Amino acid sequence: MGDWMELNHNVNRRKFLTSAGVLTAGALLPKALALAQTQKVRVGLMLPYTGTYAQLGVAITNGFKLAVAERGNKLGGRELEYFTVDDEADPAKAPENTNKLVQRDKVDVLVGTVHSGVQMGMVKIAKENNTLMIIPNAGLDAATGALCSPNIFRTSFSNWQPSYPMGKVLADRGIRNVISLAWKYGAGEEAVAGFTEGFIKAGGKSVRGLWIPFPNVEFQALLTEIASIKPDAVFVFFAGGGAAKFIKDYAAAGLRKTIPLFGSGFLTDGVLDATEEAAQGLETTLHYADGLNTKRDRDFRSAYYKAYTFAPDVYAVQGYDAGLLLATGLDAVKGDISKRKEMIAAMEKAKIDSPRGAWTMSKAHNPIQDIYLRKVVGRENKLVSVAHKALADPARGCKL
Ligand code: PHB
Repeated sequence: MGDWMELNHNVNRRKFLTSAGVLTAGALLPKALALAQTQKVRVGLMLPYTGTYAQLGVAITNGFKLAVAERGNKLGGRELEYFTVDDEADPAKAPENTNKLVQRDKVDVLVGTVHSGVQMGMVKIAKENNTLMIIPNAGLDAATGALCSPNIFRTSFSNWQPSYPMGKVLADRGIRNVISLAWKYGAGEEAVAGFTEGFIKAGGKSVRGLWIPFPNVEFQALLTEIASIKPDAVFVFFAGGGAAKFIKDYAAAGLRKTIPLFGSGFLTDGVLDATEEAAQGLETTLHYADGLNTKRDRDFRSAYYKAYTFAPDVYAVQGYDAGLLLATGLDAVKGDISKRKEMIAAMEKAKIDSPRGAWTMSKAHNPIQDIYLRKVVGRENKLVSVAHKALADPARGCKL
């Protein structure tokens, strides 16, 4: 019943005209169904294409489109039509930008975004409108925690997830007092909280937090403060253009030799062409690494390189997996996206054959995945070890 109603709604909305006028839904349902099936699936890409996270948005888009291209540009037998919005990683513009896709373009599925603050706005609107949404990066814990929802899926990570294992890595090395430094917004706060939880649990003593507003990159005063406090180590959350600048500034301040620097792997993913010497030897934890040396990853990397002429990073993988997840859902309903319940059931059961290693969905719709310890060697985040096998986000507050 729900399926038919949604279908009628779609058909009316797009005002298919016959010589007799607007199709009256009901009388011509089988034909309407056939029409709906040959229409393109409307995919809204809401990502940052300008600013400090611009490269991340591009990599996600590339990865997503590669997964679709590898399926002959059809998912569940239907072609896709893209509607693209640059969200500028600006939370203030999130409601308006999301509504452009949901209300104006009437997308069938939203794919986005990178920034947790923008994601918060998207989550609210996706919930209000019951729009299917796939999150290809933003770690906002609540998206698969307190605000979890049947129509919201994530193919990336929760902010807690890649940072938590780094706590034990440092505690096991005898590190006891750490300074954390991060952009002061959801992702930075939640990454530091995840790290702190793992660190204290494994025997660490204290984490003192220093903060800088997003997307500022004036690190000098903070580096001076770190030098004077002399902690055992520094843990940071930065990403994209800001991460590249931080790595260079930390090295230039002479701190690499005296105070070891660690972070979640966003610090060093996608930035190594820009940082060169300054990044060598940095150790981070993340759900992807260079040198996994599996056939799956090698095939992905050569296909990506062939399509775009540069190497993929974690963001490209997350975008690619968003494409694989949507393919799983659409294949299960043979492209009939109005069969929402069946589609969601298939996505929940999906085993995603990802370049990062196969992963499954948690009950809250977040990947259960291995977190790798990596080390920068040349322009690669070389695999060192598995820091935490099959890690699931605690999904605090989720009642799915
Ligand atoms: C986030 O805002 O959730 C975020 C942004 C960039 C990253 C990771 C997380 O690399």
